[in-house]
This record gives sequence, structure tokens and C-alpha cells, in this order.
Amino acid sequence: MKNVVIIGAQWGDEGKGKIVDLLTEHFDIVARYQGGHNAGHTVIVGKQKYVLHLIPSGIIREGKFCVIGNGVVIDPQALVKEMAELRGLGVEVSRQRLLISNRAHLVLPYHLAIERVNEELRGRERVGTTMRGIGPAYEDKAGRRGIRAGELLDPASLSEKLARNVADANRILNAYGAPELNAAEALDLVQDCAQQLRPFIADSAAFLNNAVKRGQSILFEGAQGTMLDVDFGTYPYVTSSSSTAGGAATGTGLAPTKITGVLGIAKAYTTRVGAGPFPTEIKDGLGLHIREKGREYGASTGRPRRCGWFDSVVVRYSVMINGIDSIALTKQDVLDELDEIKICTGYKLGGAIISEMPDSPQLLDEVEPVYEVMPGWKEKTSGATGYEDLPQRTREYIQRLSELVECEISLISTGPERNESIIIPGSKFDQWTK
Ligand code: GDP
Ligand code: IMO
Ligand code: MG
Repeated sequence: MKNVVIIGAQWGDEGKGKIVDLLTEHFDIVARYQGGHNAGHTVIVGKQKYVLHLIPSGIIREGKFCVIGNGVVIDPQALVKEMAELRGLGVEVSRQRLLISNRAHLVLPYHLAIERVNEELRGRERVGTTMRGIGPAYEDKAGRRGIRAGELLDPASLSEKLARNVADANRILNAYGAPELNAAEALDLVQDCAQQLRPFIADSAAFLNNAVKRGQSILFEGAQGTMLDVDFGTYPYVTSSSSTAGGAATGTGLAPTKITGVLGIAKAYTTRVGAGPFPTEIKDGLGLHIREKGREYGASTGRPRRCGWFDSVVVRYSVMINGIDSIALTKQDVLDELDEIKICTGYKLGGAIISEMPDSPQLLDEVEPVYEVMPGWKEKTSGATGYEDLPQRTREYIQRLSELVECEISLISTGPERNESIIIPGSKFDQWTK
């Protein structure tokens, strides 16, 4: 049995798409289990760039099967658009390759309208969301008034529930002076998409469990990252789903006992999009250098990402929360030109040094990072494919990160393309490619 969860070990955008694509070759099925089209996962194959939002990155590999699990929230319009774009790039998106959980909740036009109001009202405390309606859709799920993909198969029930929810949303929008929505227009939009999505909707939990019984392997593609998890992230500056490894079980219906490994993806530095505490953020020109060199602009929204040093408190915490067996370290090449490189080893708080993640965003805002400084290697490592080809100082940096986060590093990514990767022989990652 081989069922591995891939999760982001920081604040998202760690390069999950690239690593999922690499591992897909060695798995049968790729499943998304949470989040929605707030995600932007980039896969580069030769000259072709694919950015996946809702459909698992595994779709790029011919012959692989993809599942959008029950824990995902699906905007029908966004999904239909993504399917069309992929088909335009020559990717087969058919019922033979893709299944959508009948239990996945829908993101509907009123969710976006409500989110706009919410974010505006929060003023300086706004989360800086992707404005995709994700939070309000998960609120409706927990509030037991959500509409699920399965209901696209029942037009009468869909129309009734949509009318009820639009009326509810309009009461809120009205109270805040925001424009109201028209239920009939919303229904037309959804029904158009429903037509195209219906063939893909099924019981994905049963499908995945049967596949495992037949001996097939599943790769779970996490979206966002540990520090954006609704429970363990920098709450309230988080997304609204369980982006940590536990979400893979609740978000697909495959039991935790069937998950055999967890791969954490971490950048060799740190980035964050949106608001919220970020202890190792670099606010001067060096931060801008990393942004430009690493092309740190959101794959979904195009927003510039905040950049900072590698924070081993964050990644060690992530290793604990997710039970990470092994780490893929990405974008190490982005640091090639730096004179010196800092690693945060702990936080100073009120005269004491802490190495555990504080629970409150205020405390995390107040902490002062404690840094260890290493000399830069100042050599080109981008595109390197052998560990022994890396400069000694690069290897020392990687080894130090591994010690500090108390986890094996099994893959080093030296560029966005598939082959720009170093897999450590005998490591967990290496085993998962068998
Ligand atoms: P995801 O959301 O975790 O899948 O990550 P994104 O796709 O949002 O952002 C990662 C970006 O870094 C993408 O543009 C990738 O093509 C790129 N990338 C991934 N790995 C590497 C790497 O090792 N080096 C460089 N320079 N770019 C990388
Ligand atoms: P991938 O999967 C980075 C951030 C938003 C915001 C917060 C809440 O590509 O790594 P939301 O729209 O989810 O309610 O926004 O979460 N965020 C991400 N940041 N990568 C992502 O996805 C993200 N998805 C959401 O910027 O701070
Ligand atoms: Mg991304």
C-alpha cells in the first residue's frame, strides 16, 4: 500500500505543484482534499506552463486519474473554465480521468459578494483573502446550509436551495448597503455549468477506497500550507480549511490508517501572501531581490508575495503537526547570489527564547527572530541535478536546515522544471518513486 500526502510546510506556494507532478509518475491516482480555486499550483513541462487551481496537478500526466474530494469547495464556473483551458492545452479532461465528489460543497456567487463585505468591514484587520468566496463557502458548510455538488444532479432541489441562500445573502448585503444578487441569474449561471459537470460527479470516497483495495496508490495534493490551516495556522489570518495532513482523510473519505506517508514541501526561504504575522519577513531591498529572483507573485491573484528567511520554528512545527516523514526543499537556487543567508532558529519573546509556535497572532507579531548566519555559496546551482555537484556551502545549508527541523530532506529542487531536481538516493522520496 502506498498512499502519500503532500502538504505545504509554510504559508503556501512552496512548489507543491512541481513536486506533485514529479511523484505522479509513480502513483495511480491524485486527489485534492481541501481548499478551492484559491490555490494556484504551477507545473512547468518544457516550454509549457500549467497553473492548476481546482483540478489536481496529476491531470498533466497522461493515463493518471484525478479526484476532487469532498473536502474541496468548488466554484462551478471556475472549474468549467479550468477544464476548458486545460483542454485548450491538449490535456484530456474526461470522465475516464476525473471524478468530482458528490459531497464537495459549491462556491456560489453570493459567497463572493459576502466575502467582499466581510473583508471591507474588517478594515485594517482584513485577512487579505484571494477573494474567491472560499471562507463563506466553508461557513455555509459548517452552518449546514451549503449546497453540494451532488445537488447539481437534482435541478429542482438546486433551484429551491439556491433561491433560499440568495435571499439570506441579500438580507446581509442589504444591511451593509451592498448590491443585492438576482436569484434567477445565479441559477442560470450554475445550471449552465451543471450541464458540463454532471458526468463527473460521483461518490469519490467509495471510488478511492475501492481503488486502494485493488492495490492502486493515491497521492494527496494539499493546497495552501500548514500556517494557513484553520486550526493550526496563524488564526485568524488563515484559510478556512484543514490544509494539514489530517485533512486528507476527512477531505476524501480514505481512512487515516490507509495513509502511509507524508511529504512536506518547504521553500529554502519563506513567503506569504495576504495579511498576518510573518516573523522572518525581510522588509528591505533584499526581500525585493528574493521576490524578483524567485518570481514571487501569486499564481492565482498575481499579488506580490512577502519574502523572508527560512524559519525553522515554522517548519519544525509543521513536521510535528503533519507527521512529515520527509521534506522536499524547493527554490534553493533563488539564494545563489546572496552574500550571507540567515536561518531563524527560535524566537525571542519578553527576554526568553522560545522554540515553539505561539498560538496568538499578536505574540507572533511581537517575537524577534533569533538568527544563525551562514555564508552564501555565491555560485550557480540552478538546474543542478546531483547532490555532489552542489557547492559545499549549499550542502551545509541544507544539512543545517534538516537538523533544525528534525526531518530528512529527500529532494532539493533547483529550478521550476521537472528535471531540475536532486533526489537523495535511499531517501523516503526515492522509495516513493519505486
Ligand atoms: P504551489 O502553490 O505550492 O504549487 O506553488 P506555486 O506554483 O504557487 O509557486 C511556486 C513557484 O515556484 C512556481 O512558479 C514554480 O514554477 C516555481 N518553482 C518551483 N520549484 C522551483 C525551484 O526549485 N526553483 C525555482 N526557481 N522556481 C521553482
Ligand atoms: P497554494 O495552494 C498562498 C492565503 C490568502 C490569504 C489567506 C486566506 O497555491 O499554496 P482565502 O482566499 O483562502 O480565504 O485566503 O490564505 N492563501 C494562499 N496563500 N498560497 C495559497 O494556495 C493560498 N490560498 C490562500 O492569501 O492570506
Ligand atoms: Mg500557489
